[in-house]
Amino acid sequence: MGKISFIVFEGGEGCGKTTQTKALADRLRRLGFHIVLTHEPGGTLLGNKLRRWVKWGRGVTTQTELFLFLSSRSQLVNRVIRPALEKGQIVICDRFDASTFAYQGYGRGMDLDFLRMVNTFVTDGFSPDLIVLLDISAEQGLARKKMKLDVFEREEFLFHQKVREGYLKMAAADPERWMVVDATLPEVKIQDIVWERVQESLG
Ligand code: TMP
Repeated sequence: MGKISFIVFEGGEGCGKTTQTKALADRLRRLGFHIVLTHEPGGTLLGNKLRRWVKWGRGVTTQTELFLFLSSRSQLVNRVIRPALEKGQIVICDRFDASTFAYQGYGRGMDLDFLRMVNTFVTDGFSPDLIVLLDISAEQGLARKKMKLDVFEREEFLFHQKVREGYLKMAAADPERWMVVDATLPEVKIQDIVWERVQESLG
């Protein structure tokens, strides 16, 4: 595997991505690496406004929703990710384009070829070196969510099962770039598994 500089964490609701992205960023920072830690949707001024709409907006159609995610991604790639990578920094992102394929594609049933086309338009073919899938069943993931539920967390169980299956399919189709980790393992154990893979590529 070549050098890793763009790392993405993915997974269904309640998989613990946010904790894991922070843990990896802290570990790399302690070793002196310059890390940009960001998330989707969001990570820019406009992206954060769009995030509120997709998560909490009422009456947003699924088509609108898709384009809000893509708009947020375009801003993030061009204003944050690309500039950071060009400076030699490591970017760690909590969700990226695989979320669109998993949620809008496998979950909502939108055409995957169409999604690939519009996604390539906003990312300019730009893609992560490593994608860590924190895999959890819909049942266990949703059980971890007890606070106020957003648009996606309120979706029916079957939707979340389809999202999970979508993620697993993508990971199986591209094992060089994806690693699947059991999200029900203790947090520290997950950190160590991810660290082993990242360390390998950093030398
Ligand atoms: P979260 O990152 O805080 O979990 O919230 C983002 C929600 O948006 C999550 O339910 C997944 C969903 N999502 C999509 O449906 N498509 C996308 O392209 C992205 C980035 C997120």
